[in-house]
Amino acid sequence: MYPNYVKVVEVGPRDGLQNEKSIIPLQTKITLIEQLAAAGCKYIESGSFVSPKWVPQMADSDQVFKHITRQPEVHYSALTPNLEGLRAALSSSVDEIAVFASASESFSQKNINCSIQQSLVRFQPLLDMARAHHLPVRGYVSCVLGCPYEGNISPSKVTTVCKSLLDMGCYEISLGDTIGVGTPNKTAKLLNKISEEIDLKQIAVHFHDTYGQALANVLMALQQGVAVVDSAVSGLGGCPYAQGASGNLATEDLVYMLNGMAINTGIDLHKLTQAGLSIMRALNKPTQSKVALALKNQ
Ligand code: HMG
Ligand code: MG
Repeated sequence: MYPNYVKVVEVGPRDGLQNEKSIIPLQTKITLIEQLAAAGCKYIESGSFVSPKWVPQMADSDQVFKHITRQPEVHYSALTPNLEGLRAALSSSVDEIAVFASASESFSQKNINCSIQQSLVRFQPLLDMARAHHLPVRGYVSCVLGCPYEGNISPSKVTTVCKSLLDMGCYEISLGDTIGVGTPNKTAKLLNKISEEIDLKQIAVHFHDTYGQALANVLMALQQGVAVVDSAVSGLGGCPYAQGASGNLATEDLVYMLNGMAINTGIDLHKLTQAGLSIMRALNKPTQSKVALALKNQ
């Protein structure tokens, strides 16, 4: 019923840090990524080649990629919204890129300044160029369980955008509950709809934990056949274009649950927790991970 192995995509260094108001020193970002790799994270979203006017915190992603000590078994990825971003990513020798679309027209405009259709047109040359460079491309679809501007989003709309991205050459689609409003029933309904047209082996889930539903939603997604889960160490983050959205599901909480279910992730919970406590000390904030708090107090 459940998978034996879950691919955990650690998005803390990107989704987690992009929302921080004060500029984080380069070395702090590098240390976080290296500690996550040492903890056994194999997929680390390490930066974002977006406009620095839009997301100033990610302006030094080229420096991050230049200075991290890379582990051979780790995939270091970055977001690329357009060809300019892809060229920067190629110069930085990233292992994988991600394009990001939305299932909500309003969020698409706020986040990337164009309609959903325009974004797909913009991504096509990017996907073609990535293919020519043998670079795997992940696709994100945001607001799959609700939008901060439009409210409910229909599962068939989400499915259409997922399908377009797969047809264009993405190898995996990550479903973003950008504002964390989803519940297990809504998650099941969405995945049922998507599974009519798409093999759920190509689907990842990406839950923000605003309403404390993320772990329950992950469990439901695993029951439906999903085996790729995004999370951020310490529950870092939020989205600059989704007011009030909290961080992602904390990786520590995810790994603790999966360990308890005898599902392998390859991640060492103790080292992961130390990485999380270390970045929160640097940010001078409390961890958002319940597991990190529990282990810290033992
Ligand atoms: P625009 O203003 O329409 O684009 O922004 P433009 O082409 O007119 O460019 C404006 C300026 O930005 C120009 O500079 C470009 O050179 C520069 P100027 O001539 O004014 O000096 N520029 C760039 N610079 C560096 N790298 C680039 C780049 N592109 C343009 N790649 C654009 C359109 C898409 C660029 C902008 O809207 C943007 O960067 N948006 C990114 C927003 C973002 O990163 N949001 C957060 C990530 S998505 C997310 O968090 C959700 C997710 O986690 C899943 C979930 O939770 O749902 C993935
Ligand atoms: Mg996100």
